Amino acid sequence: MCGIFAVVNDKNENAPQTVLDGLKKLEYRGYDSWGIAVRKLKTPIIEVEKHIGKIGEAKTSLPPSRVGLGHTRWATHGGVFDKNAHPHLDSKKQIAVVHNGIIENYLEIKEELIRKNHRFLSETDTEVVAHMIEETLKEKKDYSIGDFVAQVFAAFKRLTGSNAIGVLDSKTETIVACRNGSPLVVGVDERNHQLFLSSDIPALLKHTKKVYFLNDNEAAVLNKNLFQVYDLKKEKPKKIILETVNLKISDAEKEGYPHFLLKEIEEQKRTILKTIEKNQDRIREAAKFVKSRKIIFTGCGTAYHCALLGKYFFAKSGLAADAIQANEFSAFRYLIDDKTTVMAISQSGETADTLLAVKSAKKNKAKVLAVINSRGSTLERLSDFFIPIQTGPEIAVVSTKAFTSQLAVLYLLAKILVNKEKVALMKIRLLARKLSHWLDRGLKDQLINLAKKLLKEKHLYIIGKELNYPAALEFALKVKETAYTHAEAFASGELKHGVIALIEKGIPCFVLISKDEYENDLISAATEIKARNGTIFGVSPADAPVFDYHIPTPDVDELTIIPNIIVGQLLAYYLGVGKGADPDKPRNLAKSVTVK
Ligand code: F6R
Repeated sequence: MCGIFAVVNDKNENAPQTVLDGLKKLEYRGYDSWGIAVRKLKTPIIEVEKHIGKIGEAKTSLPPSRVGLGHTRWATHGGVFDKNAHPHLDSKKQIAVVHNGIIENYLEIKEELIRKNHRFLSETDTEVVAHMIEETLKEKKDYSIGDFVAQVFAAFKRLTGSNAIGVLDSKTETIVACRNGSPLVVGVDERNHQLFLSSDIPALLKHTKKVYFLNDNEAAVLNKNLFQVYDLKKEKPKKIILETVNLKISDAEKEGYPHFLLKEIEEQKRTILKTIEKNQDRIREAAKFVKSRKIIFTGCGTAYHCALLGKYFFAKSGLAADAIQANEFSAFRYLIDDKTTVMAISQSGETADTLLAVKSAKKNKAKVLAVINSRGSTLERLSDFFIPIQTGPEIAVVSTKAFTSQLAVLYLLAKILVNKEKVALMKIRLLARKLSHWLDRGLKDQLINLAKKLLKEKHLYIIGKELNYPAALEFALKVKETAYTHAEAFASGELKHGVIALIEKGIPCFVLISKDEYENDLISAATEIKARNGTIFGVSPADAPVFDYHIPTPDVDELTIIPNIIVGQLLAYYLGVGKGADPDKPRNLAKSVTVK
C-alpha cells in the first residue's frame, strides 16, 4: 500500500522523470494520488508537484534535478485531495517526506507541534514527520548530514505502527529511508554512481539488479558520496551485502498485452509448472516442517482461498489441517503451540494481517512456513522456511498467477506427505500441457461474448462442491473486484438451506464441476436452480443437458479446479473491460495491503 521511489545523483539531472517512471511501475501499490519532490540543481529549494488520480501517461514539469523523491498513495488518513498527496514538507520547505504505513501516535505528536506553532496543511499522519525533523533541526543553524540523519532517526523512532519513510533534505542533498514493517529496497547502479530507493523491485529493473532489502529497524542514507545502512536501534552503521535480483525488465512490462491482468492470466500456461520445477526440492524439504505436526494455513483474500484449498488437498490426502483467515487469526491464537506449523500464503509477503497472524503464531512457538512470490519480503524473513514461487512480478492488483502457483505448491506438498509425489508431478505436467492448448483465442472469444451478455447483470452466483467450492469463492472474488459485479459463491449443498431463495428468473448461475464423484451432485443442484428459472452456465470438462451455456475446461482430475478458476479470471477481466473499469487497478484496492 503506497509506493515510494527516489533517485540520488541522477546521471541526466532528470530526477523528476526518473522518479515519475519509477512511480508508474509502483502504481499498483496505490492510485489515489501521486506526487514528486525534487531538490533544484543550484539552490537548496524543494519543488513539489502533486496530483490526485492515477498517473497514467502523466508528464512532469518539475525543473532539472539530481535528487528526487516520489510517492503513489492509497489513502488512509485524509481524503483524496491534492493537499493530502505526498510528499509533505516542513514549514521552511527544506525537507520532504513520503511514507507508507500508519503512524498510530500522529495525533499526539501533531498536538505537541501545534503548541510549538507548527501549521499543518494536510489531514495526513505523514506530515508530522517533516515538522518533527524541522523542530529538532532548528537549534542547529548550519546543520551537517550527520545532524540531519540523527534527527530523522529520532523522529522515526518516536513513531508507532508499521511504517516506512523516505526523507529528502535540500540542504545536504541527502535522502534517508527508514523501515519498520513496510517494505523498502535500495538499488545500486555502480556504473553510473546512482542510487535508488523503492517499495518494490519492478521499479528498479530499468536501472539496476543490485539491491539491498532493508530489514525492519534499519535505515539507509543516500547521497552522491555515500550509501550507508544503519541499525536503527544502535544507530550504528552496518556492513551489508548487495543481492542480485533474478528478473528481466520485460517481466515488469505488458509486452504487447492491453493489460497486465490478461498477460498474467495467460502466463499461467507456464508459471505453474515453472514454480514446481524450480521448487521441487524445497517442497520436499517443506514436508519435513509439516510432517506429524498440527497444520494451520492462513492468508487473506485470494491467498486465503489458496489456504482453504490447501486444507482440502490435505484432507484428501488424509491429513488434518485447518485454514484461518489471517484477519480472524487472533480468535484462534490459543490453538497454536510448539507443535504447530503455520503455513502463511502471500503473494507480496507484506500483508499486514498475515504478518500479524504469523507473529502471534511465533509467539506461541509455532514454526512458520511461507509460500510467497515477492522476494525479500517481511514474511520471508519472519518465516522458518519459505517457498519462493518465482512466477515473476505480479503487477495487476488482483492475484492470478501467484495464486495458481501457490496452489500447485500446496497440492504437491499434500501428495509428497503421502508418498504420491510422482503421480502429482505427472498431473501438474498434464495440467500445464492442457492449459497451453485450452487457454487460446477460442476460449477468449467465448468469454468475450459471454461477458457481453452478462454486462448488465447485477448479480452472479457461482456454486461448487468439495474442491470446487473454494474454487467458486475465488471465481466470485475475481468478478467482484475486477468487474464490480456482485458475485456470490455457495457450496452447492447449502442452496437448500436458504440461499436458493435468491434464485429468480434468468439469474446467471455458474456451476463449477470436475469429473469426480461430486459431478452428479452439482448437476442436481444446477437442475434445482433451473427449476426456479435460473440460467445455468456450466464450467466443466463435460457438457450436460441442464446447462444453458457450457464453458468447457480440460479434465485434469482434482486440478480441474485450476482451469475452472481461470474461466472466472478471464470472465472477470472481460466484464471489467466491458464496464470501462481498469482491470489492472480496480477502484479502492492496492496490491500490497500493508495496513491492518
Ligand atoms: C485478490 C487479491 C487479494 C490478495 C490479498 C492478500 O485478487 O489479490 O485478495 O490475495 O490482499 O495479498 P497477499 O497475497 O499479497 O498477502
